[in-house]
Amino acid sequence: MLSRPRRNRQSSAIRALVRERELTPGHLVQPIFLLPDPHARLPVVSLPGTFRLGIEEVVQEVAGCLALGIRSFIMFPAVPEQHKDKTGSYATSPDNFYLHAATRLKTEFPEICLISDVALDPYSTDGHDGLVLNGRIDNDQTLPLIGAMAVAQARAGFDVIGPSEMMDGRVASIRRALDAEGFTDTAIMSYTAKYASAFYGPFRDALDSAPRQLEGVPTDKKTYQMDPANRREALREAALDAAEGADYLMVKPAINYLDIIRELHDAHTLPIAAYHVSGECAMLLAAAERGWLDYRRAASEALLSIRRAGASVIISYFAKDFAGWYHE
Ligand code: PBG
Repeated sequence: MLSRPRRNRQSSAIRALVRERELTPGHLVQPIFLLPDPHARLPVVSLPGTFRLGIEEVVQEVAGCLALGIRSFIMFPAVPEQHKDKTGSYATSPDNFYLHAATRLKTEFPEICLISDVALDPYSTDGHDGLVLNGRIDNDQTLPLIGAMAVAQARAGFDVIGPSEMMDGRVASIRRALDAEGFTDTAIMSYTAKYASAFYGPFRDALDSAPRQLEGVPTDKKTYQMDPANRREALREAALDAAEGADYLMVKPAINYLDIIRELHDAHTLPIAAYHVSGECAMLLAAAERGWLDYRRAASEALLSIRRAGASVIISYFAKDFAGWYHE
């Protein structure tokens, strides 16, 4: 035998020499679920270890993450029912607690990278990402609403705008709206290949944002989120987002879509982001709770696999725990 791959695995020092990929806290983004009550701290039952927090608690959380080397955050609002309407008008309201929280965080921690979420679902009585009109999700009537939402978020201090609603033409529409208001340095992290996945359950529980039963409108998101069967369609979405001025291309979910991450990485020069979604984290946590998996080893391996597939940005509910292990 002339070639023995095991020679390069003999010691920890050798394994470090030949390691092809590193994952550091610098690659990770910590999700934050924001509640209006400043001191709130409520668990997300279907995602153990994750909480919905008021801004005072968020400030503590961000400080804790910074100490561990996590400097990027993606924030989502849990909007009380009385603020919801058909057009999601509270998204741009001057009273919006989500926008206020962004301003507070960027004032207190100017060094962080703060990523927003652009979609109607947290604000909409219909629970859909786009505007429901005449029994359908109206693409073109949604575009001005999300453009205005993005501008309000940029004005509040968000560094990166994260359109997650999968409307056609949204990146160009948001880019023009931002530039028209002078926010030329505000980046767009587009949810390029966002699949109609079964793995968003705990997130929708956290925000109470699941699509509601409506006359004629399906309670799933299959008319705008992608079919899990499709790979080439992700390349088509990526080409559009790149042409429309996106600064990052995101794949979501991550673990079940590692092939898509690799595909976009190889076909494009924009940085690739991956969203390791709530359901993907929840199933690992559930197995760990039963003693069936070792949480630390399994979570680290999952994150590393996303990195190996080609993602440079990884959004994960495990971000903070990983950063803690990284420094041990
Ligand atoms: C919707 C949005 C969702 C997630 C991020 N943005 C849910 C959905 O599309 O229904 C899910 C993230 C997760 O499951 O962790 N604007």
